[in-house]
Amino acid sequence: MRHLPRPVHPPKRLRRRYRRWIYVIGLGLWGSGVAWMIAHHLLKAAGSDPLLPAASEPWWLRVHGATAMAFLVTLGSLFPVHVRQGWHAHLNRASGVTLLTTCAVLTVTGYGLYYLSGDAWRAKTSIIHQVVGVAAVAALLVHVILGRRVDRVLRGARHTHHPGH
Ligand code: HEM
Ligand code: HEM
Repeated sequence: MRHLPRPVHPPKRLRRRYRRWIYVIGLGLWGSGVAWMIAHHLLKAAGSDPLLPAASEPWWLRVHGATAMAFLVTLGSLFPVHVRQGWHAHLNRASGVTLLTTCAVLTVTGYGLYYLSGDAWRAKTSIIHQVVGVAAVAALLVHVILGRRVDRVLRGARHTHHPGH
């Protein structure tokens, strides 16, 4: 054998307040993006000048920028324990990686939305950001549902091995 297997800590469920914080910030981020889309694609169609943004658009982007920063800090804080433990225990990996990839695409295209100046590139970046952004909620939902199942199975296993604990 090349090396001894390292001891694997079974992942602990995220604490309730931490979990709630992820959901609140995630919802604020997603909600402000979707609200911008409603203002931009639906309300403006009914409004006056098609070339001008709807009045509420910059406000949604202000909320979106702030929640995006808070979300990225939160995402970073998940790496040292949550992602690491789940990864080493081989649990919930596929949906976790899908979620991380989704966040990476949104971060890169979000950066592009700030700094890309060519109209054609900006328009493409915007479409990718919007489509992946709307779908991101599904990636989180799947991860959470599978994560809860993992947690139930782990607790069940502990129960069987140590009856009475
Ligand atoms: C490769 C990356 C990841 C792996 C391997 C992973 C692994 C896991 C595992 C094993 C669970 C069930 C145990 C627990 O609740 O801790 C879980 C649940 C959860 N994960 Fe992840 N995760 C990853 C990435 C992420 C990311 C990027 C987020 C948030 C943006 C996230 C948010 C959550 C949440 C909110 C739950 C809680 C479900 C609940 O207990 O109700 N995870 N994950
Ligand atoms: C990691 C997560 C995310 C980051 C870092 C991020 C970042 C950004 C940034 C920096 C902008 C440009 C703001 C501006 O031009 O003032 C933006 C715009 C936008 N974001 Fe996000 N975002 C994320 C997730 C989402 C999600 C989940 C949605 C849901 C639909 C979304 C929808 C939008 C929309 C509709 C715009 C406006 C597009 C445009 O101006 O053409 N974003 N985002």
